[in-house]
Amino acid sequence: MKAKFVCIEGGDGAGKSTLISKIEKHFKINGIDYLKTREPGGTTLGEEVREVILKKRGTTEVNPRTELLLYEAARAQHVSELIAPTLANGKTVLCDRFTYSSLAYQGYGRGMDLKWITELNHWATEKTEPDLVIWLKIEPSEALGRVQKRSQTNKLDRLEEEKMSFHEKVYAGFIELSKKEPNLFLVLDATVSEEALFSQLLKHPLWIKHFGSLK
Ligand code: TYD
Repeated sequence: MKAKFVCIEGGDGAGKSTLISKIEKHFKINGIDYLKTREPGGTTLGEEVREVILKKRGTTEVNPRTELLLYEAARAQHVSELIAPTLANGKTVLCDRFTYSSLAYQGYGRGMDLKWITELNHWATEKTEPDLVIWLKIEPSEALGRVQKRSQTNKLDRLEEEKMSFHEKVYAGFIELSKKEPNLFLVLDATVSEEALFSQLLKHPLWIKHFGSLK
């Protein structure tokens, strides 16, 4: 089987981490050699940039262009140092967020030009594109309810603290993006239980197209 590049996208609190753990277990059982990574981050430099991006800055605004360029800077390092060499070695890559987060958050969320973001995505990744984008679809109000429950122990980061209207724009953005690329986007109903979410994934025609009907 050719190495696949799989990205997982979803709003804050959609249940990405649990789904990723289940996919990892599934890959291990089925002997699929894979690497799990995340954005922003994945490399030493990328993880440092992640801290800069997500750090709370009181009332100091972060310019949207600065924010976008920081994500793209981390991404360029991530692709060149880790993702491209891993795929070239025949290993599947499982990435928590990728280029479509920039389109949804910085494009639809902050209102930046989608053409520019697409160009920057291509430039940063040298056109390394995912084979599959799994999007966990859940209304932001419902998802943020989950985040807030969690936040009694976990502090919210700068983006999780954004206004509900921002998260709604991001959500609408993902809907549009998934409609534009139906052969790339595997959309899951993330309002259901963790088990039901995972079984939706395994049964989905796009998953079967790439990974077959594994156990
Ligand atoms: P992450 O910690 O994966 O968020 P979550 O808690 O939802 O799993 O990602 C950090 C934040 O960065 C998240 O709110 C989405 C945002 N983000 C962008 O705005 N643009 C991007 O290009 C990426 C990769 C992430």
